[in-house]
Order: sequence, then C-alpha cells, then structure tokens
Amino acid sequence: MSDLILGIESSCDDTSAAVIRDGLLLSNVIASQKVHEAYGGVVPELASRVHQQNIVPVVSEALRQAGVGKEDLSAIAYTRGPGLLGSLHVGTSFAKGMAIGLDIPLVDVNHLHGHVLSHFIREKEDDEVPEFPFICLLVSGGNSQIVLVKSPFDMEILGQTIDDAAGEAFDKCAKVMGLPYPGGPHIDRLAESGDQTRFRFSKPHIAGLDYSFSGLKTSFLYTLRDAVREDPQFVENNMADLAASLQHTIIEILLDKLRPAVRQTGVRHVAIGGGVSANSGFRKAVADFCDEAGVRAWIPARKFTTDNAAMVAMAGYFKFKRKEFGDLGSAPFARVSI
Ligand code: KG4
Repeated sequence: MSDLILGIESSCDDTSAAVIRDGLLLSNVIASQKVHEAYGGVVPELASRVHQQNIVPVVSEALRQAGVGKEDLSAIAYTRGPGLLGSLHVGTSFAKGMAIGLDIPLVDVNHLHGHVLSHFIREKEDDEVPEFPFICLLVSGGNSQIVLVKSPFDMEILGQTIDDAAGEAFDKCAKVMGLPYPGGPHIDRLAESGDQTRFRFSKPHIAGLDYSFSGLKTSFLYTLRDAVREDPQFVENNMADLAASLQHTIIEILLDKLRPAVRQTGVRHVAIGGGVSANSGFRKAVADFCDEAGVRAWIPARKFTTDNAAMVAMAGYFKFKRKEFGDLGSAPFARVSI
C-alpha cells in the first residue's frame, strides 16, 4: 500500500498544502499573502488572519490537484516551527483537527529540516536525490547555516550567522535603496545589468565557519549616506551597480565559508536551500564552485526555495516511515534549531 502524506505549511506569510505519494509529489499549492507589501515587512497579526482565510481552500485545492480524497491520506505532516507563532497556530490546529477527524497519524516537522530535505522531493520516478552525507547551505530571511546532513534525522550545524541572516542583508540594504519588501528578488533583477566590481563593501573576518552580515549592512549604509551628501541622485543613478556589488559581496561571504566546509568534511554532494537560494548569482556561483571542486551541486527548483508544503510533506514522509508521530497535545514553537 502506498503512503500518501498531506503537508501543511504556515510558518510565515505563505499558506501552502501539498500531497506526496511515496516521496513523489502530486500537488503543491501556495497562497502568498500580498497584504504585507504596504507595510515593508510581514505583519504577524495580519499573517495569522490571512492563513485562517486561506487554509481550507488551499488544502482542498491540493487534494483536488493530487486527485485524491482526504479519506485516502496516510498522515498529516505540518510545520511546528520555527516561525511566527500566530501563523504556526493556524496550520497546527488545522492539521490536528484533520488528523483527529480522519483518525490518522499527525507528524510534526521542523521547517528547517523541510528546506534541507526538499532535495528529496521527486516530481518524476527517475528524479535523482543527494547522497548522504552532504552539505546544505541554508540561506533565508532568518537563517544562514552550513549544515552537515548525515541522514534525514541527523543534521549538524557546522557554522551559522552570529547576527543577521543573508536574506536580511539583502532586504535591509534594498530598503536603504528605496526598494520594496522583500528586497532580495529586486536586487537579483537589478544586479543582472550592473557592474559588480564598481563598489566595495566590507567583508567580515570571523573565525571558523560562522557568518556575519551586520558589518556589510553598516558599510552599505555609510557608503550610500556619504555619496548622497555629494550627489542627492546617487542611489537613483547607480541602482544596478549598487545591487550587483552588494549581491556579489553577499555571495563572496557565503562562498568563503562553504569552500572550507566542503574541504574539511570531504563531502561529495553540496546543496543549497532557503529563500536566498533563488538568487541567480548565488545559484551560478555555487554551481561553478562545485564544478571546480569536483562535487555534485544540488540547486533546488525555484518553487522549492521559498516556503512550501512539498518540503514539509517530504520531511514528514521520512518521519512517517519511522513511525515518528507527533503528539496531539504539542504546541508550535517560534524558535528551534535544526
Ligand atoms: O526562506 P524564506 O522564503 O523565508 C524566510 O526565512 O523568511 O526567505 C526569504 C528571504 C528574503 O530575505 C528574500 O529577500 C530572500 O529570501 N530572497 C532572495 C531572492 N528571493 C528571495 N534574495 C536574493 N535573491 C532572490 N532572488
């Protein structure tokens, strides 16, 4: 008998539901919330309310697209954390209610495991997946971590940011340039036509495999502040070069720690994940590095870089196979490590 898992993701501002059968993706529906754009960031209270409006239609659509009925499901996997507590409560309560109603197991998933294990989602029977152990560089709005993935259940953080995440660096610098939130995709687009060598911003000197992005943010802010004093139109006239130089610096910082991590561990497979892994320059830089180093690169499809329930269903599938079921009394958690 096949294992049919419904995944539910509601950790931030995307309501998503997905169905996988034995690791093969049948549907992945995502409703993104536009309401936050006017506020320059995610407003937690609004996010929870929109999840409440979206969750039933999103789950229904995921089942419809998968061509399955809820009575066919083997388990419900949901994101328990980390994330915004109010948002997590919506997905958690819905998943619990559905599991109780259908009398099937509930499987709680760490959102970060989901990002790492998204590389195991297969859309076709013959899709390949990474070999353990591998390194996953997880870069999002909240995390920048180098993770040694020994198995779906055994992950070790080799290095992580001591202050801001890479996505925050993109978003905060973009804000200084007057770009809308989230700024990462705007920087990516502008950088395509810019000169990445035009401006230099400071890079951190941190021992080991840890990251820091707060110095870069300050250096970017001061560069713009001083230049605008001389020329009030400086930012408007240099958008593409500023974006390209900023993106280049962030990628260099990320790669400066990925290289030794791969060397030290001797892994043969290297993956990236999280929202920032959608960045064109970063994807190319990682692919080029892996080519040179003779290791296999795993660059996720863009639809699996941002928050999605397919990765939750996938991580849930691994736990389901081990009969690691969740507890109906468990509450979501806003913060948790990998
Ligand atoms: O994983 P994610 O969707 O959720 C959070 O952790 O919040 O990551 C969101 C982050 C944001 O900082 C966003 O600006 C960044 O991912 N991002 C990008 C790109 N697409 C999303 N950063 C750079 N280039 C992109 N194309």
